[in-house]
Amino acid sequence: MARMKRRTFVGTLGLLGGGLMAVPGAAVPLRAAASGGGPVVISSGNGLPAVNTAMERLTAGASSLDAVIAGVNVVEDDPNDMTVGYGGLPNADGIVELDASVMHGPTHRAGAVAALRNIKNPSKVARLVMERTDHVLLVGEGALRFAKMHGFKEEELLTDASREMWVKWKENISTQDDYLPPHSPEDRDIGSRLSDVMQTYGTITCLAKDRNGDLSGVTTTSGLAWKIPGRVGDSPIIGAGLYVDNQTGAAGSTGRGEANLTNCSAVLIVDAMGRGQSPEEACLGACRRIAERTKMKRLQDADGRPAFNVTFYAVNKRGEVGSAAIWSGAWFTVNDGNGPGRRLESAYLYRRVQK
Ligand code: GLY
Repeated sequence: MARMKRRTFVGTLGLLGGGLMAVPGAAVPLRAAASGGGPVVISSGNGLPAVNTAMERLTAGASSLDAVIAGVNVVEDDPNDMTVGYGGLPNADGIVELDASVMHGPTHRAGAVAALRNIKNPSKVARLVMERTDHVLLVGEGALRFAKMHGFKEEELLTDASREMWVKWKENISTQDDYLPPHSPEDRDIGSRLSDVMQTYGTITCLAKDRNGDLSGVTTTSGLAWKIPGRVGDSPIIGAGLYVDNQTGAAGSTGRGEANLTNCSAVLIVDAMGRGQSPEEACLGACRRIAERTKMKRLQDADGRPAFNVTFYAVNKRGEVGSAAIWSGAWFTVNDGNGPGRRLESAYLYRRVQK
């Protein structure tokens, strides 16, 4: 079924990043870092300030939970990261809606918020859901009321820069929305903004092992840009965008949340580490699972591979870290306590090359 062609603005956001084509490629060599028994932090490519802040806290004796939340708060507060917190890209109505989850290994508790408006640190509210309620997930108006009950102040999260990008999108809207007409699994030209993945699916995840060997994690995001109001991605869903098992390891994700929601990726990665896989192998396994289960033609490239990206990050109980993405070009950040954090390339299933 044909839909209206994309117009110029969105047309610049081509398949797999514009001007790129996919070639089969083995994963790049293993690039794990180990903490040598001490604290370690891993985060997504946008997480250098987060891993450095988290490591400062860990070195001073903070728990893994305090450290990862302090780490991502730096990025949530940063208006220049338009995928997280303040300045995050808004939904289709121009309103910023944030998702976040936290998980604490030692007590195996979790807390999350989804579609939270007007509060710039959803990770802090997620922590309060974990610590001050008998629930795991609060959404929308209820999450906002809960945050205000605990003293959070409402503020406008839309910056001029993110508002201007939203206006540009709105002025060029065509097939670039998430409402799909009736279609079959064979239809291709449907919902064709998948490839705009870096701009629309950015998120931060941060995982840490502390001095006691305890693990915690957080994932926080403004979610898919221009989403249907109320859309919730994988970030606040325990087992999809974040999972921690204090005996085994922790995993988090960035990228197309819908793929994680239908594959429960984070819990799969932690379970795979529990069966002895390295963090990187486990992350690659989750990528393979998504690739094998992406059945709809509209979600595939010409060779039947996912026409979107998802990146995973993991740390195991020994403090080894790893990351992998479906497509090459993804990055992760790590701080193992030996100087400033580093940015490393994630392993991948498929390599993208310039046409
Ligand atoms: N992974 C972020 C999202 O899909 O919302």
